[in-house]
Amino acid sequence: MKTKILFVCLGNICRSPAAEAIFLFKLKEKQLLDKFQVDSAGTGGWHAGNLADSRMRRSALNRGVIIESLARQITLNDFHKFDLILTMDNSNLKDVKDLSSQLDKPFNAQIEPIVKFAKNTNFLEVPDPYYGGENGFNEVLDLLEDAINGLILYITKT
Ligand code: 4NP
Repeated sequence: MKTKILFVCLGNICRSPAAEAIFLFKLKEKQLLDKFQVDSAGTGGWHAGNLADSRMRRSALNRGVIIESLARQITLNDFHKFDLILTMDNSNLKDVKDLSSQLDKPFNAQIEPIVKFAKNTNFLEVPDPYYGGENGFNEVLDLLEDAINGLILYITKT
């Protein structure tokens, strides 16, 4: 059985598609791709169907990471389908938990903030880079790489 992981941010065009692509990149490096099903989604649906923000795609590509996913909005079915839902900031965490309260039967997913897995940072959440400068995208990528290293240690031990 594959472990199913969903990364969630607000628009699904900056942080969560980057997290998804970094996770896939590292799984491939470790020859673990076949053990996981990975996706990302936004709590909002404004960008549904769109490629990730070009600034994020460019910053990731500078590290060899290709972001290919198309944006979609999280659905109630995701709470049954995925084992782990990882949110980027406190607002996403609240929105995802609020949404889960609409479910009328128990669900499978464990909901966690992704920063919980980061070991080398003072950030308490993954900041939204959308309205900031180029450096914000690299800062987010550094933080996501740190968190995803910790995540891979966690999921390969449990
Ligand atoms: P994301 O960033 O949640 O990391 O994808 C954002 C993308 C778009 C918007 C906000 C945040 N927006 O307001 O359109």
